[in-house]
Amino acid sequence: VLFNKMRKPTSMNLNDIKVEIDTTQTKYTNQLQLLNLTEQDLKYLKVFKPYIQEKIHTVVDHFYNALYVEDSLIQIIDRNSSVDKLKVTLRNHVLDMFNGVINKEFFEKRKRIAQVHVRIGLKTQWYIGAFQNLLITIIEIVHQDVKDPNDQLYLIRAITKMCTFEQQLVLE
Ligand code: HEM
Repeated sequence: VLFNKMRKPTSMNLNDIKVEIDTTQTKYTNQLQLLNLTEQDLKYLKVFKPYIQEKIHTVVDHFYNALYVEDSLIQIIDRNSSVDKLKVTLRNHVLDMFNGVINKEFFEKRKRIAQVHVRIGLKTQWYIGAFQNLLITIIEIVHQDVKDPNDQLYLIRAITKMCTFEQQLVLE
């Protein structure tokens, strides 16, 4: 794998990594530009996917354990779904964030997530808080599993951009 413990970013061949940003979604061009979310970021995310895959159980468990601080969140889950079901949903969703693809389907999926969360009455502050928790867990995996500080920086940069973009789309 590219983030092999001792490797430096210069030894990585990101050229061979295929990614996609759909620029016909012009509505979001400026948003992407301000975030400076680039193809290079998507390449880093894609290369990191196997690492996150390996620890996805931890990510998902942390996420749902954290929600128990707030009774209303557990009530929302019990009323509309179940923790076991949502763990599968979140697992797939988080892994998708590392596909290196921002296309029509990507935008449509976020729109649907927004609609679902509005329907179940999930408040913005809990959505953002849960996202922050998710982000920290992922950053901890970078810290544990990626040796080179530059790789860590590039990855954390890419991950935070992707998380912010996703929140922009879901909360708009
Ligand atoms: C549904 C992601 C936060 C409760 C979903 C779906 C996704 C998702 C991908 C499936 C949408 C679909 O059916 O197309 C996320 C992400 C979150 C987040 C990425 C933040 C990082 C939360 C929180 C709660 C929650 C904090 C707590 C109540 C639910 C429930 C559903 C759902 C109950 C299922 C609703 C239904 O099937 O009727 N979420 N979610 N989500 N989410 Fe979230």
